[in-house]
Amino acid sequence: MELNLKLSQIGQKMSRKVGVRAIMGDIQEVLASGSDQYTNLSVGNPSILPEVTAVWESKLKELLLDEAFPSIISQYGSSYGTDELIESVVRFFNNEYGLTLDRSNVLITAGSQNLFFLAINAFCGVGADSKLKKALIPMLPDYSGYSGVALDETMIEGISPIVSKLDDHTFRYELDKEAFLEKMYNDPDIGAVVLSRPNNPCGNILSEEDVEAISKVCGELNIPCLIDSAYAPPFPAINFVEMEPVFHESIIHCLSISKTGLAGERVGIAIGSAAFIQIMEAFQSNASIHSSRLGQCMVAAAINDGSLVSVSKTSIRPYYKKKFAVLEEALINAMPLDKKWFLHKGEGSLFAWIWFEDLPVGDMELYETLKAHYVIVVPGSSFFHNTSKRTDHEQRCIRISLTVSDEEMRKGIETLAAVISSIYDAHKESLNMI
Ligand SMILES: Cc1ncc(COP(=O)(O)O)c(C=O)c1O
Repeated sequence: MELNLKLSQIGQKMSRKVGVRAIMGDIQEVLASGSDQYTNLSVGNPSILPEVTAVWESKLKELLLDEAFPSIISQYGSSYGTDELIESVVRFFNNEYGLTLDRSNVLITAGSQNLFFLAINAFCGVGADSKLKKALIPMLPDYSGYSGVALDETMIEGISPIVSKLDDHTFRYELDKEAFLEKMYNDPDIGAVVLSRPNNPCGNILSEEDVEAISKVCGELNIPCLIDSAYAPPFPAINFVEMEPVFHESIIHCLSISKTGLAGERVGIAIGSAAFIQIMEAFQSNASIHSSRLGQCMVAAAINDGSLVSVSKTSIRPYYKKKFAVLEEALINAMPLDKKWFLHKGEGSLFAWIWFEDLPVGDMELYETLKAHYVIVVPGSSFFHNTSKRTDHEQRCIRISLTVSDEEMRKGIETLAAVISSIYDAHKESLNMI
């Protein structure tokens, strides 16, 4: 039955899945068709690692025996988060990084997606002057969820990256600092800056120097710089090259416990200046009250006894680092070395990102062709968000997940290699015929 509902603008925007979520809907439909022939290289869920599950099992068991348990699950708490978790975050970050945080610098949210919802819509959107304040991504591509949480369609903007080839089959994005600074200083309608480090989808880790430059401008302009640390150290520490978090008065660190095996419990952590945190706390209090208190207590216990940090370093990081090596080897073994494919340097995150230079078809057509050959990948263009100008590069990339088994990875890459070869060759033949 079609109800023909008259939705608000926000209702219309938020009832449409955008970016990867739209593709994921299509993928779920394909997989639900029952065929087990598909090799799914698109999975967004983290792998279940027994050592990680063991940490959470033990924390939950301890909590079940805790006399505070009835109150934890039966009663509401503060919208800043539980005392236990806030105190353990303050203690841990002060000890580890020599900071002087206090409780007013920390907010616990229902996952980091929710954190971005609060932050982006509080600091951006239509202001008192009726002008739309936007969130700026300094270097595209970046997490498509930022467009998902923005209540206005055109709220997210981004700067195109500099594409730097490292060798015949490897490349890396670099920040176009000049373009970023020009935009920041000349567009008065930037309300926040947002970036993921390590980056979803491409695994890039912006240098400390770049982050310092970005946060310095944000400080000068008095706007928050949201650093999405969903894959960063100290947990889950899915970085394959050295990196340290950068701290600055303009930075709000946005942490997630999801990739440390607790995605189902929805715990995110914002660390930043009290003035920013206060605004987000009020928003959270109005919108959702607080995150799961059980999850928060589990996380506090795992921070306090060091298990969250140690399982990240000893299990999670090595697991995905090895997966990336398996992928690299599979590509070198299977892909045509005379064709112009380039893997983004693997610096971190759960993903690998491949660019096919001058491929005669775009990423959506490639996605459909691979699907017809029973391999599923994520087409890359939605990570360039709505508002950027569409360049050829933006439609020639795909994202592959590092969460599949080694066997599936090799099988999927073999099919990818065959499909890519035939697309490039078919084009060459048609050119020869002209
Ligand atoms: C870069 C990035 N940020 C944020 C999120 C949201 O994570 P969560 O809401 O589970 O903390 C994800 C999820 O995949 C992500 O990849």
